Amino acid sequence: MKKAIITGASGGIGLAVARRLAEQNYALTLVARNEEKLKEVLLDLGGKHQMLVADLSEHDGLAILIDHLASNNYDVLINNAGNGTYGEFLNINLENQISTMRLNMDAVVALSFAFLKKATPGSALVNIGSLLAHTSMPGGAVYAATKSFVASFSESLWYEFKKKGIFVMGFNPGAADSEFHANAGRHTNDFPAFVVSSVADVADELVAALKKRSKPRVVQGFKNRLMLFGFRFLNRAMAIRIMGQISPGLAGA
Ligand SMILES: NC(=O)c1ccc[n+]([C@@H]2O[C@H](COP(=O)([O-])OP(=O)(O)OC[C@H]3O[C@@H](n4cnc5c(N)ncnc54)[C@H](OP(=O)(O)O)[C@@H]3O)[C@@H](O)[C@H]2O)c1
Repeated sequence: MKKAIITGASGGIGLAVARRLAEQNYALTLVARNEEKLKEVLLDLGGKHQMLVADLSEHDGLAILIDHLASNNYDVLINNAGNGTYGEFLNINLENQISTMRLNMDAVVALSFAFLKKATPGSALVNIGSLLAHTSMPGGAVYAATKSFVASFSESLWYEFKKKGIFVMGFNPGAADSEFHANAGRHTNDFPAFVVSSVADVADELVAALKKRSKPRVVQGFKNRLMLFGFRFLNRAMAIRIMGQISPGLAGA
């Protein structure tokens, strides 16, 4: 039986991926801060799975998971936990922005290191970026920059580990109907409905790409890929202007 560990698995995309992998008979370890939610998820999934409560934006929480990865073998790590805050740069508490950088980048690097140190041929690392890895986002400057980091980092590792038979993928969802946007200070319905994917659809694409083990950078959703294709014909300033005009982080600014 294959073993996978998923961060940020108490809700949203992480939970949807956990459901898919559980259906495929993986034994899962689910990581998040909210113990009660994790217990509910475990009850719901049934069986052989386990949980780890840790705040990955904090040194001690991250250390718990690094230790766990040092003493346990997994076939798959999905670095999914992430957050952001919408708003103009100077209007967002600086500590919140630094904390986002710790969760979205430092934790991803530290956990990738711990996992890859022990990874054997056939295993896989998935880092969740965002469509915003490919565009910048006024009204979410730090968040978008962290996701560019994740996409670039994952591509380099894809190359380094390919020859060892270990697959690394940066998986980049577009807007999805999770708690992310409410936690970030806006709402999913601030986006035009047609661009929002269900977390179940995002999970299906992720699991299909994981099975295929081919691309270093996957953009989720046909509409998202089409949008990025269109952006290739714009100069940089035009693309940033469009992102600024549609950014939920600047709505009403
Ligand atoms: N939703 C979107 O539109 C969208 C688009 C592109 C990319 N993404 C990316 O997809 C990933 C998942 O987002 P989501 O939409 O599923 O968001 P979500 O619904 O807010 O879920 C985030 C998950 O991460 C956990 N988490 C948050 N902070 C944590 C911390 N400090 N330590 C440990 N766990 C933490 C949360 O659980 P606890 O609160 O219990 O800790 C939850 O399980 C993120 O990396 C996000 O940047 C999302």
